[in-house]
Formats: sequence, structure tokens, C-alpha cells
Amino acid sequence: MCGIVGYIGHRDAYPIIIKGLQRLEYRGYDSAGIVLFDGESMQLSKTKGKVEDLKNKSEATISTSGKLGLGHTRWATHGVPNDVNSHPHYSNSGDLVIIHNGIIENYESIKKALIKRGYSFESDTDTEVLINLIEEVKKKEGVKLGKAVQLALNQVVGAYAIAVFDKNKPDEIVVAKLGSPLAIGIGENEYFIASDASPFIEFTNNAVYLEDKEMAIIRIGKEIKLRKIEDDAIAYPNILELQLNLEEIEKGGYDHFMLKEIYEQPRAILDTYRGRLLADQGLIRMAGIDQNLEKFMNANRIIIVACGTSWHAGLVAEYIFEDLARIPVEVEYASEFRYRNPVITDNDVLIAISQSGETADTLAAIKMAKEKGAFVFGVCNVVGSSIARETHAGAYTHAGPEIGVASTKAFTTQITVLTMIALKLAKAKGSLSESKFHEFLTELEGIPEKVENALQTNEAIREVALSYKDSTNCLYLGRGYNFPVALEGALKLKEISYIHAEGYPAAEMKHGPIALIDEEMPVVVIATRKGHYEKVVSNVQEIKSRSGRIIAVVTEGDTTVKKIADHVIEVPETSEPLSPLLTTIPLQLLSYHIALMRGCNVDQPRNLAKSVTVE
Ligand code: G6P
Repeated sequence: MCGIVGYIGHRDAYPIIIKGLQRLEYRGYDSAGIVLFDGESMQLSKTKGKVEDLKNKSEATISTSGKLGLGHTRWATHGVPNDVNSHPHYSNSGDLVIIHNGIIENYESIKKALIKRGYSFESDTDTEVLINLIEEVKKKEGVKLGKAVQLALNQVVGAYAIAVFDKNKPDEIVVAKLGSPLAIGIGENEYFIASDASPFIEFTNNAVYLEDKEMAIIRIGKEIKLRKIEDDAIAYPNILELQLNLEEIEKGGYDHFMLKEIYEQPRAILDTYRGRLLADQGLIRMAGIDQNLEKFMNANRIIIVACGTSWHAGLVAEYIFEDLARIPVEVEYASEFRYRNPVITDNDVLIAISQSGETADTLAAIKMAKEKGAFVFGVCNVVGSSIARETHAGAYTHAGPEIGVASTKAFTTQITVLTMIALKLAKAKGSLSESKFHEFLTELEGIPEKVENALQTNEAIREVALSYKDSTNCLYLGRGYNFPVALEGALKLKEISYIHAEGYPAAEMKHGPIALIDEEMPVVVIATRKGHYEKVVSNVQEIKSRSGRIIAVVTEGDTTVKKIADHVIEVPETSEPLSPLLTTIPLQLLSYHIALMRGCNVDQPRNLAKSVTVE
């Protein structure tokens, strides 16, 4: 978590860093800070709150000139969010400055040792410990900044993406990475540093992504010098040409990124299957699967690991893989899986799902499964992300940047990729007839249009939201393929509107949650025609007879549920395995409108961050 930005070159650093931090706010937004160096003095400004607060404070209190600067937007790990704990942090001498994304796990022992040797600390952060360790090493060994950073990092345990500079050497920034992302943008006689490429995309398309355990010395007028932190070996920068464009990371007329991303889903799903799904030829082409088909065909089982919304996409995939391809699937929270000594053999295939490709627990689960011999396949959105690089093979979702913290288009595009994989495997295994396979391809090809239709429910959903905006609890029910959609709907509501919500398999309701139902309890039920319809209708009756208030997501033209439910939202008809791609749309819109009506910050809900790079 946390976002870092740095600049060194011929432009004013301040506007680049502020705008960059705003683009990285999805990574954390409880406090922010900036340091600028104008060749003579350093200007530091830090504040609890958003980047907008930092901007206001900086413009009122410091000189914002300087061609070198570092900025940070924080998601607190060590120390509460306040001005002092915000980054950047100075070393005791005031010469060195650092910004850090990650956690130094052994910071307490280092801090104690430094205190004994006369160092003092203003903040409660692990980062301030690191910069003083660097300073101590630099002085003691009489080495340059790069070497001091390297020696200090060899003493720490944890994760980091850091940028450090020395005010006595203002043409140089030293950066290093382990476990947290760090990109360097290369311009003409200028360099940019950031947690991802979005802060510098309007200035340059050329970037180097540091690998784990690599550091770089960035010096104006010189080429970047890369080396391994552990053994000093020279590493060679792999300069990539970025595909990202500015439009994709701006709001494009929408009030919020979340709404924009909800509305982007028809296009995003199409981009996901473009060039892969060839319905007229009866073919799905996915290089990562084609080249490793044997692994999947011989797999004892597929283990899916993920967190949050991606975990819900994994649950949908469990139904699809087992139903269509007849391969046993287990879906695991990455954070549990990695610590529970699971039995993994080299005949297991592990699929890791992650929008950001940076989630620490998912990454650790991948590393463990690889060590135990499993073949690991990644489903990621962010191209070149850590998970994409760590896996043996994979398939990108191609959803485009997702900036709203509440995941929307990532979910539907993950399901699209996983459905294509299941269909490919089903075809290869012969578990699906040719005609059924073709039917699915045609149906999947038509999904973007149906999502477009599902989006037309927006106004009706706004009305529903008005009636429930003051609720304190909400239940979401679904069965089969739509049980994970119920979980996802509940997650969306709680994360952005702070209403307590729970997703349940509809039939399980009578084993507990039914006790909660009264006239105050809204219950969102997914009751599409294909998928245990009669059973779900009975569940809806059970809620009605206990005076619960029912919001039902039904198939177009439904008449049965309409008679019982308080509100119905219609989505187009589709085959059951594809239905989550449609039923999830109204639930996303419902949480969006409720959150908005409650005055919540939709794109930056409290306490959350989009990319969780800590355990
Ligand atoms: C965070 C985000 C969620 C996301 C989860 C997993 O909690 O707020 O929206 O689903 O991390 O992230 P990933 O990038 O691995 O899909």
C-alpha cells in the first residue's frame, strides 16, 4: 500500500508530484507528504488527510519551487495517520530524505540499537528507522549514498519500494525494491519514480520496472545504474514501452471512477475476449493455456487463490470449472492458504487471480505453491505486475486501469477470462458437447450488449437506493453461480457505504440469518430464471412471510417474483454459467447510489486501499 512519486529533471517537481499522488491515491489516502529541493534548501510539507489537503497546506506554507522532489500518499501500517508519521522522513542530520511503501519487519530491534548509539526519532514509523540506518551506515563506512542504501537494506527484513536522496548531492535519487512495486519513467534529461506508471504517463512512455532485490542510482545526465541489492551484481534495465494512455486514468465526464468503471464493463469484457474468442470459428485462443494444456489436462485439481473481489471471481470459477470442465477446484483465501501448510503436489495447478497483480498474500501463496512444485497460472489486470511476472504463465484481463477502490470491471473481466479457460478445457477434455461449446461461445460474445442493457437499470436502482440508504444492515442471497455474486454484492455495499451487509447461499438462510429478518431488513435476492429458480422463489417467500423487504434481481419478463418482491430489477436472460456477468451489474450500481446518498467517498472508502501490498 502507499503510493510513492519522485521527480528529478528540468521541470518544477511540485505539480508533477501532486498530480502523481492524486493518481496513486487508490493505494492509500490517510495522509500525504512532499519534499522539494530547490538547490539550496529542502521544503517539507506533510499532513493527515488527502492529497488535496496536502496541496492546500503546501501552497499556503512552503515554497513549491524545486526541480527535485519526492511525494507519498500513505495507508498507515506503523503509527497512526497524522502529520508526523506521514512521509517523507528525514534522517537525524537532516541531510537524507526517504519515502517508503512497505513494511520493515525488524524495525524495532534496529530502532533500539540506533537509540543506544544516539539516534532519536520523531515518528512511530519503521521508515524513519530505515533512513537513520542508512545514515549511520553511510557515516560509519564512509560510503556514497547508493552503497549505504545497499548495505542498510541487507540488514532489514520486510518489503519496500523506497526513494532516497541526499541534499548534498541533489542530482541523484537512489531507489530500491523488494515486494512493493517501483517504476522509473525515463524522459529527456529527467526521471520519474512512481508506484505505477500513471503519474508520468503524459511525460514519457519509456519505463523500467525494478525487479525484487534490485536498486537503481538515478542521476541527471547519466544512464540509470541498476544493481542487485544482495551481491552488488550489475543488472541491465529492461526499458519497456508503455501502452497506457491518459484518458484511461481520468474520469472522462463521470463523477467517480467507480461509476466510470461500472459503465466501462461492456467495453472491458469485449477487450478481454477480443482476439481470443472466435465464435465463428468455434475457437478460443489463449496462448498461456494452449502452451500449457498438458498441465491443465493432467491436473489432479485446480487450486484458486485470491483476495477480496478476486476471491469472489474465483468462487464463480469453481462452479464453471467443475460444471463444464469437470475438474475439481478448491478456492482459497491467499492469506490462509499461505500459512496453513497445504498439501500440494506437482500435479496441482494453481490459478492466482489479482486485479493489481501486487497483493502481498497472493504473491506469497504463489511463491509457496511454486516451491512445492505446482504449476502456477496468473489472471491479472495490471500488465507487468509482480504476480504476472512470478507465475509460470497467465492471461491478462485487459480491463484497463481500475482506479475506484471498490473493484467492478476487474470482477467481470476476471470471470470472462476464467470462463474462457473453463470452456477451452471442457472442449479439450470432451466434457462439453460441440454444440454446447458453440452455444457458449456465441452467448459469451453477446454478453457486452447484455451488460449494456443491464446498465439501463441505473435509474430504477437509484429509486431503490433512496428507500434503503438509511438501512444499517442488508442481506444478499443467491444460489449456485449467483451465490458468489451475493457475496460480492454485500462486499460492495459494506466497503463503500459502511452498511453492514452479508452474503449467504439462499438456502442457508434458514440456518441462522433468517433470525435477523424483520421489516427493517432489506434482503437482496438474485432470482434469475435459470438456476434453482423455484427453490429461490421459496426462499423469497420465507423472507416475505417474516416481513423482510425484498429487492430481487430477476430475468427480464419474470412475473412470479414480481408478485412477492418489494422491488424487482430485470437483467437480460443468459445461460446460468454466464449469469454472474449480468446479475452483478445492478448490485454494483445499488452500492454506488446508496454510498453516494449517504455522503460517502465512493472512490476512496475509509480504511481501504486498492492494492494491498502488506500481509
Ligand atoms: C483490496 C481491494 C479489493 C481487491 C483486493 C484484492 O482489498 O480493495 O478491491 O479485491 O484488494 O486485490 P487484487 O488486486 O489482488 O485483486
